[in-house]
Amino acid sequence: MACSSSATTVSLFFFILVAAVSATDHIVGANRGWNPGINYTLWANNHTFLVGDFISFRYQKNQYNVFEVNQTGYDNCTIEGATGNWSSGKDFILLTKAKRYFFICGTGGCFNGMKVTVVVHPLPSAAKNSTTKSSSEASAASPSLMGGGSLTLLPVLLLVTWIWVGLQFGRVHCH
Ligand SMILES: *[C@@H]1O[C@H](CO)[C@@H](O)[C@H](O)[C@H]1NC(C)=O
Ligand SMILES: *[C@@H]1O[C@H](CO)[C@@H](O)[C@H](O)[C@H]1NC(C)=O
Ligand SMILES: *[C@@H]1O[C@H](CO)[C@@H](O)[C@H](O)[C@H]1NC(C)=O
Ligand SMILES: *[C@@H]1O[C@H](CO)[C@@H](O)[C@H](O)[C@H]1NC(C)=O
Ligand SMILES: *[C@@H]1O[C@H](CO)[C@@H](O)[C@H](O)[C@H]1NC(C)=O
Ligand SMILES: *[C@@H]1O[C@H](CO)[C@@H](O)[C@H](O)[C@H]1NC(C)=O
Repeated sequence: MACSSSATTVSLFFFILVAAVSATDHIVGANRGWNPGINYTLWANNHTFLVGDFISFRYQKNQYNVFEVNQTGYDNCTIEGATGNWSSGKDFILLTKAKRYFFICGTGGCFNGMKVTVVVHPLPSAAKNSTTKSSSEASAASPSLMGGGSLTLLPVLLLVTWIWVGLQFGRVHCH
């Protein structure tokens, strides 16, 4: 019994560790950060964005900032109707929806290339496939998974934890 429960504890700990690091933080411009004169289209093309990932902007506070805008704002460097703005100099933005996002600098840097658009993809449907097969209860989680909200990972994570724990019990022999 003691052996089993310690195996569970260890596997749970390991799972939480894996889950915690699985969301990617995409640092805009990598080590060049959020600055004028960089082609962020090239940067974005080199990254795959998934629902639940972060995009983060690093820049000189008070000099630049970040606005989330629509296609018109991106094309024209205008912030009318912006749906979000950040100015801490180290902004982490959670990508909650599978859609195209547009970010620009609102202090004029946009005209010098400080604009980036990224397409956020839904989570791979492989997870949905395996959950629907292993439990009828999980089918309730499937529509919300498609919705792409940040809370929707929870049922999937719980299910994967169950499977993982099950595997550990199968592997560890107690005498
Ligand atoms: C950035 O690079 C892309 C791909 O090569 C190119 O199509 C685009 O015109 C470039 N943008 C600027 C502002 O140079
Ligand atoms: C694309 O990403 C790879 C690996 O992170 C990196 O080595 C490479 O320089 C990147 N290319 C561009 C154009 O950013
Ligand atoms: C955006 O700019 C284009 C041309 O640069 C112009 O035709 C269009 O009216 C502008 N849109 C807005 C909403 O200002
Ligand atoms: C973007 O937002 C502005 C201001 O709300 C609006 O006038 C414009 O039509 C929008 N453009 C798109 C492509 O939705
Ligand atoms: C920035 O966002 C805040 C709310 O988070 C809003 O009150 C403010 O009007 C926004 N600023 C601009 C310039 O859109
Ligand atoms: C999901 O499962 C179905 C049937 O088992 C299969 O045909 C389909 O290719 C799977 N989709 C993915 C994305 O794995």
